[in-house]
Amino acid sequence: MTILILGSTSDIGMSIAQIFAAKGFSIQLAGRNLKNQEIVANDLRIRYNTEVETYFFDAINYNSHLNFYQKLASKPDIAVCVFGYLGEQSTAQQNWEETEKIIDINYKGAVSILNIIADDFEKRKSGTIIGISSVAGDRGRMSNYIYGSAKAAFSAYLSGLRNRLFHSNVHVVTVNLDL
Ligand SMILES: NC(=O)c1ccc[n+]([C@@H]2O[C@H](COP(=O)([O-])OP(=O)(O)OC[C@H]3O[C@@H](n4cnc5c(N)ncnc54)[C@H](OP(=O)(O)O)[C@@H]3O)[C@@H](O)[C@H]2O)c1
Repeated sequence: MTILILGSTSDIGMSIAQIFAAKGFSIQLAGRNLKNQEIVANDLRIRYNTEVETYFFDAINYNSHLNFYQKLASKPDIAVCVFGYLGEQSTAQQNWEETEKIIDINYKGAVSILNIIADDFEKRKSGTIIGISSVAGDRGRMSNYIYGSAKAAFSAYLSGLRNRLFHSNVHVVTVNLDL
C-alpha cells in the first residue's frame, strides 16, 4: 500500500509519514523543498525500512499537476492533501497578492491536484483521499477570514467529492483541524 503526502515537509505531513511508514506503507513525499524531503525520506527509510520516494510538487503550478501525477512511480492508495498557507490576514486586507496567495494555495491548488487524483481513483474504484481543512472554515473570524473562507471552499469541495466518489468505492475524508 502506498500513501502520497502533498505538503510533506509540514509538521503534520511528517507525522503522517511516520505513522504510515510504521504500518509498512510505501511513502511518496511531495513538496517544494526537495532537500528537506530527502532528509525526512532517509530518516523514514532507516527507522522503518520502508520504500520512500520524493517528488517536487508546487500547489500553485496548476499546469504541472497532471504531469506530476502521471510520473509517480506507482499510483497511491491514499492521497493526503496537507499543504496550506495561513498567510497574514492584516496584510491580505491591504494587498491583493497576499489574498490571492491564500486562496490559490488553500483552495485552487488543492482542487487542481485532487481533481486529477479523484479521476484516477474513480477509474480504479478504490482509494482514499484525505484533505486537511480547518475549523477556521466553519465561520468567518475577524483574525483569519480570508484563510477561513478558502478552507470553507475546500471543505465544500471535499464534501461534494465524497458524494461523487462514494459510488465508486472511494473514500473522501475531511480533517477539520482545530489546533
Ligand atoms: N497548524 C495548525 O494549527 C492548523 C490548524 C488548522 C488547519 N491546519 C492545516 O493543516 C495543514 C498543515 O498545517 P501545518 O501547520 O503543519 O502547516 P505548515 O507547517 O505551515 O506547512 C505548510 C506546508 O504547506 C506547504 N506549502 C505551502 N505552499 C505550498 C505550495 N505552493 N506548494 C506545495 N506545498 C506548499 C509547505 O511547504 P514549503 O516547506 O515548501 O513551504 C509546508 O509543507 C495545512 O493545510 C493547514 O492549513 C493547520
